[in-house]
Amino acid sequence: MNRKKLAICAAMLLVGGCTAVVAPPDGAEELDTDLRALLAEHEVEAISKPAAEEAKVRLGQALFFDKLLSGNRNISCATCHTPLAFTGDGLSLSVGQGGTGLAQGRAAPVDQGGEPIFIPRNAPEVFNRAGFTTMFWDGRVADRGDGTFESPAGDALLPGLESALAVQAMFPVTSPDEMRGAAGENEIADADDDDFSGIWSALMVRVLEFDEYRQLFAAAYPDVAEHDLTFAHAANAIAAFEIEHWTLVDSPFDAYLRGDGTALSDSAKRGAVLFYGKAGCANCHTGSLMTDEDYHNRAVPQLGPGKGDGDAGLADFGRERVTEDQADRCKFRTPPLRNVAATGPWMHDGAFTTLEAAVRHQLDCVSSVAAFDAEQLSAALEPLYHPEQTDTILAAVDPDETEPVTLTAGEFDDLMQFMEALTSPSLGWLAIADTPDGVPSGLPLAD
Ligand code: HEC
Ligand code: HEC
Repeated sequence: MNRKKLAICAAMLLVGGCTAVVAPPDGAEELDTDLRALLAEHEVEAISKPAAEEAKVRLGQALFFDKLLSGNRNISCATCHTPLAFTGDGLSLSVGQGGTGLAQGRAAPVDQGGEPIFIPRNAPEVFNRAGFTTMFWDGRVADRGDGTFESPAGDALLPGLESALAVQAMFPVTSPDEMRGAAGENEIADADDDDFSGIWSALMVRVLEFDEYRQLFAAAYPDVAEHDLTFAHAANAIAAFEIEHWTLVDSPFDAYLRGDGTALSDSAKRGAVLFYGKAGCANCHTGSLMTDEDYHNRAVPQLGPGKGDGDAGLADFGRERVTEDQADRCKFRTPPLRNVAATGPWMHDGAFTTLEAAVRHQLDCVSSVAAFDAEQLSAALEPLYHPEQTDTILAAVDPDETEPVTLTAGEFDDLMQFMEALTSPSLGWLAIADTPDGVPSGLPLAD
């Protein structure tokens, strides 16, 4: 109870009325005051869902689930971002075209030597991406703020793209391991790797062979003649689908941000006070989207084939790959944390398979990377842990950003309660709400 209330209470005791006052439990009001002040300081506000253009959403949904977009017609966006695994794939590292099964049951294809082929990074969730100006763990797609975008396609990027999220959707179809397949396997893969416009127009030829797609495009873009449609129109529609279906603003934390003080338990509120206060999480997971959209080296253990960086090619230098500045070595974009309790494994390479381990790592990442336990990984991934890369990662860490934070057991529980309070109750409905009955190409949805 704060001093003012104590004084009121003392005064009421004098007149014999204190027990009649229904006071909130000790400290509850102060907790709210503290938390609201911290949220204001970090400019955390309720997020809202942009209005949808229905015809675009419908087209985007069809494209997102249709394996027609992959060279060998064997994988869709939804294979790696399935509602069944809450818009990710539930795997540490994604499994691209040629794999079989879905979500945690998905098995990797093997190379000529019999070794499994994994995508070098974890498939992130796709929640609440409307306001994002960067995409991918290394931000290789970014909105320059002047109507143009940075992207791996450089000047070849098609005009007319509406957001960083839409620009992102241009690229999975260009990646041989993710969706395109190998040269000789199909007409999309036969284009040169850097012939982006060749890949995109070959895909549009394929898609527009179907009456149903021609109708869906016409409804979404009534003012655009069929021969003027490009893959940018497809990508804008995919982004419209992602925003309409996966902007979820009903987690307990979101309700609290809209003013419902009862939406969070006291424990979650204490956890939030730690998050935005002494635990320092909001130095990076800040603002309404819970990310600064900036890049940091959190000393995450190297798991998987890597991106061809370093002496043995097994490292992933993250942001440095985009900026070519060694100061950005092993930095990755701060992930937004909404629904984080449901979207493991965690980190850019899925190295942590429990949220608790991921949060403990964030509290003291330098000690944590040295003590990393590879046995928690699946049997296929365990041999792909590269402890010999740890020195490189640690050498690039910024000591000012990685000072250990010590919490009591109670405080840690509170922090975890706050993480849980970021989960939308709508998650349980995603698979039913998002999955179409079928796709225009007639290809199967299932794997
Ligand atoms: C083989 C699995 C796979 C497929 C298929 C796939 N993705 Fe992804 N997706 C990933 C991985 C892995 C990443 C992270 C890659 C990185 O950051 O370098 C990613 C990143 C993303 C992101 C970035 C989110 C962010 O904030 O950074 C979005 C959005 C996304 N994918 C949407 C799509 C769409 C749309 C398609 C279909 C056109 C698609 N994905 C196909 C695995 C996949
Ligand atoms: C200096 C910036 C910074 C601070 C401080 C920080 N984080 Fe992070 N956090 C990141 C970055 C960057 C990543 C991704 C690292 C990677 O994958 O290489 C991340 C990843 C995570 C993840 C995994 C999310 C996912 O989707 O995989 C969780 C959970 C998390 N942080 C929670 C916290 C908590 C809780 C705190 C406070 C105790 C905290 N973080 C402090 C930048 C930060």
